Amino acid sequence: MMNRPQKYIEGEALHFQREKSNNALKLRVAVLVVCVLLVSALVVIYLLFELLTTREMLRNLELKQGTVQTNVAERVPEITPCSTVQPTCPEPEVKIITEPCNTIPTTTLQPTEINMLTQSYSTIPPTTPQPLDITTDDPCYKCEDGWKQHGGKCYFFSTSKSSWNESSTECITKGGDLVKIDSSEEQSFLRIAIQQKIKSYDDLFWIGLTDSAVEGRWLWVDGSPLNESLTFWFFHDEPDDWTGEDPDGKDCARMGPMYWFGISCKVTHRSICEKPAVALCD
Ligand SMILES: *[C@@H]1O[C@H](CO)[C@@H](O)[C@H](O)[C@H]1NC(C)=O
Ligand SMILES: *[C@@H]1O[C@H](CO)[C@@H](O)[C@H](O)[C@H]1NC(C)=O
Repeated sequence: MMNRPQKYIEGEALHFQREKSNNALKLRVAVLVVCVLLVSALVVIYLLFELLTTREMLRNLELKQGTVQTNVAERVPEITPCSTVQPTCPEPEVKIITEPCNTIPTTTLQPTEINMLTQSYSTIPPTTPQPLDITTDDPCYKCEDGWKQHGGKCYFFSTSKSSWNESSTECITKGGDLVKIDSSEEQSFLRIAIQQKIKSYDDLFWIGLTDSAVEGRWLWVDGSPLNESLTFWFFHDEPDDWTGEDPDGKDCARMGPMYWFGISCKVTHRSICEKPAVALCD
């Protein structure tokens, strides 16, 4: 009989022990569940917080959008008055146009300055050939304006170009003819004058010498023959009668800053007219 209760007690103890361990397990599970619940609750709280903050941000954005839209809405009426202001805007534009117009007259004033400059420039050359003019300007002789006086003769250096015949005619209408060179002294005077007038070395001047009547028989415009010991051709054999440019050949003489050259009479050049100076002394 004693075995049974003892056994019972033992069983009871065992049962109690099992119960105890069972309870401990249950407690552990409960704690775990509580922990899980707590963690999940935390997560939920965190998510809710996040949601709330994003909502807040969205709200702020919406508010900002709203203010921007109202700003735009406020500025739109500002712009439309500007379009009504525009009619007055062209007026300043017109003023702006008139202002450059006012500056244009000041630029149109400049040509006078340019004239002064060109006048001062044109006064410079007479000062540079002074050593020449001193020796050539004879007080006993007088030339018209635009003519250069030398050795009792007046010389006109044309600025326009024309053929030899036309140049000769122009000189005749001026009361003279194309220049006749009578001495090496006259040649030197003309040479220096040409050097002062030309812009480039191919700038040449017609002189009154031609062999268009009889080939090789060079005559001055006054009909006198060329003194063969008083010639200033570029080469000794100048002028050859090369007919490449003109079938008539090089029948007219032109003068450069140093020498004479034969050329077709049809080409155009500047020219030197010559006529006697007005004698003031007897
Ligand atoms: C130049 O004129 C003369 C007459 O004055 C004429 O005989 C001659 O053919 C003319 N020369 C040229 C190249 O026109
Ligand atoms: C030709 O020129 C030379 C040199 O200037 C001169 O001595 C001579 O007398 C001139 N001849 C004629 C015919 O004019």
